[in-house]
Amino acid sequence: MTTPTPKRIAVTGAAGQICYALLFRIAKNDVYGPDQPVILQLLDLPQAQDAVRGVVMELEDCAFPLLVDTIITDDPATAFRDADAAFFVGSRPRSKGMERRDLLSANAEIFRAQGRALNEAAKREAKVVVVGNPANTNAMILAANAPDFPTENVTSMIRLDHNRALTQLAAKAGVAVDSIDRLAVWGNHSPTMFADWTNATSQDDSLSDMIGDDAWYRETLIPNVARRGISIIEARGASSTASAANAAIGHMHDWINGSDGKWGSMGVHSNGEYDIPAGLMFGVPVICTDGRYERVEGLTFNDFQREMMARTIAELQEEREAVAALL
Ligand code: NAD
Ligand code: LMR
Repeated sequence: MTTPTPKRIAVTGAAGQICYALLFRIAKNDVYGPDQPVILQLLDLPQAQDAVRGVVMELEDCAFPLLVDTIITDDPATAFRDADAAFFVGSRPRSKGMERRDLLSANAEIFRAQGRALNEAAKREAKVVVVGNPANTNAMILAANAPDFPTENVTSMIRLDHNRALTQLAAKAGVAVDSIDRLAVWGNHSPTMFADWTNATSQDDSLSDMIGDDAWYRETLIPNVARRGISIIEARGASSTASAANAAIGHMHDWINGSDGKWGSMGVHSNGEYDIPAGLMFGVPVICTDGRYERVEGLTFNDFQREMMARTIAELQEEREAVAALL
């Protein structure tokens, strides 16, 4: 049997907390699946290069059979060179006293520079997921600064919110997590996100009928999912790490290998579907098949859904205005 050509996987923020969980799962090959060798191309800031070297020593000490090489760099173009997939995890964290607008601008500069490097160096078919916050707007800036790179291949992560909603709904309904389908998380990865159970089913039965408690859905489920990231920061003094890495793996795994006809949620470039303003990077339900995602089409919205959509659209439009100069 011939060995497949290794896939090159670029990861930014390699010295950070999420990557300390993510890199080991990629190296074990939870993304492409068994028998596919991988090369990790790790980017972090100059001052973090020693820390990345330490992580790579640990990767080596795992003796992963499918990890055939590791590149460590502080140069984005080197990290993205010929990449088949890229996880954009690195970003500037919010520091004390920093306004959201300042955070947006600081990260916008990073994603503008990285967009240019992606444009120059990555394979055109590379699959990109942005995890670093504010993930949707960072992804929008990345795509805008990579004009020769297919916009469809730049996505942002809302999978963690999808997973959070799945677990909370399964517990309430008393069903298995993996029995649930047709859940959607719309919009921004922020407290305005909209976890939408309207079409959700468990074994083809309507989940909202099974739970039968609209007040719980509106007043508990939606805010709990939306605030889960903040609850984790309050409880552990740091933002989610292993669950964020797990969501990034799930996002990329399904995009590459397919989702068996099941709905997932991905932040994708809007072409104006469902009156979502064109150009926003927006969480929508998708089905993945053969290395492609397809937006779920033909859904209709009630007044409550329209109100929730309008809220998260307005926030993303504000974010877009704050970084307009970089687009
Ligand atoms: P972290 O601070 O531990 O690590 C970030 C890493 O990025 C650091 O090693 C830093 O040196 C690096 N970095 C900063 N600027 C860089 C640049 N220009 N190029 C390359 N690397 C750079 O943070 P973390 O806990 O790993 O989280 C990373 C990001 O993911 C944060 O923005 C966090 O808010 C976000 N996050 C997103 C989700 C989501 O669901 N989308 C969930 C959890 C966390
Ligand atoms: C999360 O959802 O856990 C994170 O995005 C929270 C954060 O602000 O880092």
